[in-house]
Amino acid sequence: MAQDRERIISFVKKYLKDRPQPGPFIPGQTPVPVSGKVVSGLDMQYMIEAVLDGHWTEGRFAEEFEERLASFIRVRYCSIVNSGSSANLLALTALTSFRIPEDRRLKKGDEVITVAAGFPTTINPIIQNGLRPVFVDIEPGTYNASIDSIMEAVSSRTRAVFLAHTLGNPFEAQTLRTLCDELGLWLVEDNCDALGTKHRSVHTGAFGHLSTCSFYPAHHITMGEGGAVLTDDPLLHKIVRSLRDWGRDCSCATGADNACGKRFTQQHGDLPYGYDHKYVYSELGYNMKVTDMQAALGLAQLERLPTFIRRRRENFSFLHMFFRELYDSFILPEWSMHSQPSWFGYPLTIRDTAGFTRGELLKFLEQKKIGTRLLFAGNVTNQPYFKNYDFRWRSVGKAEGNRIVLPNTDIVMDRMFWIGVYPGLNIEMINYVTKSFKEFLASR
Ligand SMILES: Cc1ncc(COP(=O)(O)O)c(C=O)c1O
Repeated sequence: MAQDRERIISFVKKYLKDRPQPGPFIPGQTPVPVSGKVVSGLDMQYMIEAVLDGHWTEGRFAEEFEERLASFIRVRYCSIVNSGSSANLLALTALTSFRIPEDRRLKKGDEVITVAAGFPTTINPIIQNGLRPVFVDIEPGTYNASIDSIMEAVSSRTRAVFLAHTLGNPFEAQTLRTLCDELGLWLVEDNCDALGTKHRSVHTGAFGHLSTCSFYPAHHITMGEGGAVLTDDPLLHKIVRSLRDWGRDCSCATGADNACGKRFTQQHGDLPYGYDHKYVYSELGYNMKVTDMQAALGLAQLERLPTFIRRRRENFSFLHMFFRELYDSFILPEWSMHSQPSWFGYPLTIRDTAGFTRGELLKFLEQKKIGTRLLFAGNVTNQPYFKNYDFRWRSVGKAEGNRIVLPNTDIVMDRMFWIGVYPGLNIEMINYVTKSFKEFLASR
């Protein structure tokens, strides 16, 4: 049996080795995407092993992945989930749990400070939980909110701050955590685009009371689809697990029974005495678990994470060296001297004096087969769903007549975009990108 298993795995390895490899990079013909999965034989091997295990729901690969990711970021607990969006929903929902002390629990109408320039599912869990998003402006170049603007937005209803490290560039996480603790606010870090980033020598994802990751293929590592919620707090961990696993009260691993030894000997509220603990639900839960095949892929990817981070930083540095010469046309990325970002992409904002529009440039790059992306929703308050549904939100920024505007967020919406730095891009591709920018600017 064990030999058959070895044979299957070595057959798969041979298949991977023998299959046609991608041809050489042909400028103008080979696409230069912004992101994508970077796979190896190990990814396939681990996934096949998970299939052959026959367990399929969360199992040994999930357990090992959770331990390894938690120890990489240096937090105590990690729960893998089926997406970064689910991770964000669980992280914020956990703070509404009946288990959270009354004075810290998030309740309908409470305010959560965030930014409008980002990914919608950082913001949506605030609304989905009946809370009120309060948008502050971001800073040009860092694309993060400053501590001052966050503090300016704090009101008597503020209970939490929920922010992403934009495109891998960390916000002032350490100062913000200290201030949040002083003010009795929760800090939730959306670390989906920043796995491997360090701020003041600490990995992002370790600053928040809760933090999240995404393992969609565009991200630093992939599970196909996947995400994670991390925390140092045993109570928050217990709530996240329960919410993830249908809201169940019992914390036995999937497929395990009676780990506590009290399965049939407890009184749970109004349920009959001894009601099977496996079927006691104390949270308003979901099912956001992953399969062990996904976790196996994640584990293989995690082994290469340090290489992926290094390659992202190298590609970013090559691009930054080039774009420094184009300072007149673009606002270049800025980051704190206390940070080592693990970049998601290379962000650029076209200056209003540049003499060309974003549409013209992106169309040109598309013809050159160079991928570009916007900063996701731009100014999310302008997205159709903000008009299609009636929910309460406010922004804190510059007064314009009787409106509050977020000028830098609007600039992001109108003139910002990013290009790829992911490990699938090699130096030939980066050189082709820079040559194409030169060609575009020469044609103006
Ligand atoms: C900052 C941020 N948060 C959350 C998500 C959602 O992750 P997922 O696609 O895994 O749901 C994304 C997606 O790219 C993201 O960029």
